Amino acid sequence: MNIPSQTGPVPRHIAVIMDGNGRWAARRKRPRAIGHRAGARTVNVCIDFCLERGVEALTLFAFSSENWGRPDEEVGALMKLFLGALDREVGELHRRGVRLRFIGERSRFSEAIRQRMAAAEAQTAGNARLSLNVAASYGGRQDIAMAARALAEDVAAGRLKADDIDETTLGARVALADLPAPDLFIRTGGDLRVSNFLLWQLAYTELWFTETLWPEFGVEELEQALHVYASRERRFGLTGEQIAATQAASPMEGRHP
Ligand code: IPE
Ligand code: IPE
Ligand code: MG
Repeated sequence: MNIPSQTGPVPRHIAVIMDGNGRWAARRKRPRAIGHRAGARTVNVCIDFCLERGVEALTLFAFSSENWGRPDEEVGALMKLFLGALDREVGELHRRGVRLRFIGERSRFSEAIRQRMAAAEAQTAGNARLSLNVAASYGGRQDIAMAARALAEDVAAGRLKADDIDETTLGARVALADLPAPDLFIRTGGDLRVSNFLLWQLAYTELWFTETLWPEFGVEELEQALHVYASRERRFGLTGEQIAATQAASPMEGRHP
């Protein structure tokens, strides 16, 4: 594959469904946990790429609300992998200016994992080079439901009027509300679905899919995804002519009318 270096706009925020670990292992007649371990290496490749290319935020789907329903042995192996990664990787991420955050239902994790998540967030809170968000025990519907609950509590306490609930107030309560919405969504593993990832946040995200299984995903395909992204016309419901006029007026800001 020979893809020219991408010259158009680089996405500010990339969201990734890291899928295909189990199939990667099955093809090698190995247990699924081996696939997850192999997949963990690809995570570092992605982070390095984002740091090099000046991507501001990377959100990785590591474990969905629904993944708790997998066989105990697999869930146990994934928890061991999380714990190990938290112990091994956070120091280096901090050194490289990465701010680490976890989104999802944290109460379902063990005390040991929750403590390390909190410590990693506290240690890296002042970093600004790359915002790395790990969606773990995360579900998009759960995210929106929790935002609705928070608004309901505000209304019940008299801090907010029901009439004031709109896209802005709800959008401010979903995960990652302080970041620009993902510009580019990547899913590996060949399935063409969103699987309850950032449902609210992906409203106008550009979608890109590859058959490649996550442990085999790498820089070449990231380059390809960015190249495709740069060639897309994001219209946000407007006409192509309107977008062209906005870009002519302010070429640097044309991506977010
Ligand atoms: C993604 O890989 C990782 C997690 C869901 C934790 P899968 O484990 O879903 O791999 P496949 O889709 O079965 O190949
Ligand atoms: C989505 O993948 C979740 C993660 C990659 C963590 P799944 O493998 O769980 O999705 P489905 O079941 O194929 O939709
Ligand atoms: Mg899968």
